[in-house]
Amino acid sequence: MSMSITNTPTRYGWAAIILHWLIGALFIGQFGLGFVMVRLTSQRTAFELIQLHKSLGFLLLGLVILRIAWRIGNAAPALPRSVGPFERRTAPLAHFALYGFQLALPLSGWALVSVSMLEIPSMPFNLFVMPNLPLAESDAAENFWAAAHWYLAYAGIALVILHALAALRHHFWLKDTVLERIIMPSSDRGAE
Ligand code: HEM
Repeated sequence: MSMSITNTPTRYGWAAIILHWLIGALFIGQFGLGFVMVRLTSQRTAFELIQLHKSLGFLLLGLVILRIAWRIGNAAPALPRSVGPFERRTAPLAHFALYGFQLALPLSGWALVSVSMLEIPSMPFNLFVMPNLPLAESDAAENFWAAAHWYLAYAGIALVILHALAALRHHFWLKDTVLERIIMPSSDRGAE
């Protein structure tokens, strides 16, 4: 089994694999948590869950920055030959958009709490006070960023579903290595 941390021309290394699944789980978890916390009747529970949502969101933002830096510094493996011309053109666009959502979503959440007149401090995991973004507070700005956060969350999760369906199609329909190689670096058939 390959223990490569970095990507090779045909496979993903551990760093890309771990970041992919960790961020994926956090992203989907954040969507579920966000969906539930704004529908609660208990103010107290809602407050606690929103603080947790903010903590996990900042963690996610840090991981996403790390991931993008890693992606820029360490080229992704080439697509296997089984991938047709249509996907060869569209998949990179979808992936680029996914990176965009991973960045824009936590940033819009951070903007939302920064402009809120409620002025509730963000304390990631109770470790320190996260400064607000330098944006002017107002109810109008809060409404704007809340709407932006909502649209980005729903569009982002739709793209994640499309992305997962595309991966499943590779595995079960096209029967190539595209899904396997983001699970295990040892899949040696990557170049097929
Ligand atoms: C990938 C990261 C994130 C995802 C997927 C996400 C997703 C969501 C979702 C689905 C909602 C519910 C929207 C609704 O139905 O009204 C929500 C609400 C919220 N999110 Fe996030 N969020 C993320 C990151 C963050 C971050 C980093 C912060 C702040 C630091 C944040 C702050 C909030 C707040 C304050 C609300 C409540 C908005 C309201 O009261 O209308 N989120 N989020």
